[in-house]
Amino acid sequence: MATVRLDQKSRALVRAIPDSYPEALANFFGSGPTDIELAKVHHAAYVEALSLNGVEVTVLDADHAHPDCIFVEDQAVVIDGHVLLPVPGHESRRGEQPPIANFLSDELQGHQICKMEPPAMMDGGDILRLGDLFFVGRSTRTNDAGIEELRDLLDHLGHELRVVDIPPHALHLTSVSSTPSDQIILVPEGYLTPEAFGEMPEGCEVIMMPEEEVYGCNTIGLPDNKVIIADGYPTVKKALEDRGFECIVLDMGQIRAADGSLTCCSIFY
Ligand code: GLY
Repeated sequence: MATVRLDQKSRALVRAIPDSYPEALANFFGSGPTDIELAKVHHAAYVEALSLNGVEVTVLDADHAHPDCIFVEDQAVVIDGHVLLPVPGHESRRGEQPPIANFLSDELQGHQICKMEPPAMMDGGDILRLGDLFFVGRSTRTNDAGIEELRDLLDHLGHELRVVDIPPHALHLTSVSSTPSDQIILVPEGYLTPEAFGEMPEGCEVIMMPEEEVYGCNTIGLPDNKVIIADGYPTVKKALEDRGFECIVLDMGQIRAADGSLTCCSIFY
C-alpha cells in the first residue's frame, strides 16, 4: 500500500532485475538470492499481476551496479502526487535514486519535489498509509531527522503522521505490516502491537497475525477488493478472504531471498 490510497493506484514504477542481484543485501529474513533466472520469473509474475489488475506499469532498466535496485519503494515517497526523495538508509543504495527521481519528476510535473539531505535518512519502505493517516517506522534505515522532513511534507498536505518503533530484528515498517485496504493494517505478533499504531480512526482495525506469518503481512491492496499476497501464508489469506477480498497469490521466493517484500518492488504514483 505504501503511500497512496486505493483510489490513487493507477500507475506504478518497477525496475528490472540486475545481473548483480545475487549480491543484494540480505541481513534480515532473506538468505541471499541464488537463482537470477527464477528471480526474473518471480518479478515478471509480479509485473503481470499489477498489469492484469488495472495498474499501468513502467519498468525501468536494471542498474547492474546496484544489486538492490529492484526495491524501488525505498527510493522515493509519493504522496498525493508530491515526491520526497529520501536519503536511503543504507550507503550502498544511494546511487539507485537518480533515474527514479528523473522519471517521477517528468511524470508528476507541477507537483512539489523535495530532496532530503544527510544526516536525515529514510527508506520509503518505512512508510505506511491508512486512508489519510500515515505511519513511519523509526528503524536502522530511517532516523528522526528523516522523520521530521516527512512530517513537514505531511503537515503541508494536511495529513497526520505517527511514529512506530521498529524492533531490531525487522528491516522496515512495511517488512512487518501493510494496509491491504484503506481500513485495515496487518501486523504480526512478536514484532509490533496494536497499541504501537495508536487509536484507530472509526471503521479501521489492526488485524494481528501469527509471528510465523510475518512475511505474509506485506500485501498490496488494489481497487475492487483485490489484494496481492505472497504464497505460503494461510492465516493471512484466510483473514483477507473472510473479509471479502479476492487474493492474488504470488511466489516471492527469490525476491524474499534479498529481504524484499511485495511492496518493496513498486512505487505507485
Ligand atoms: N535488500 C533490500 C535492502 O536491504 O534494502
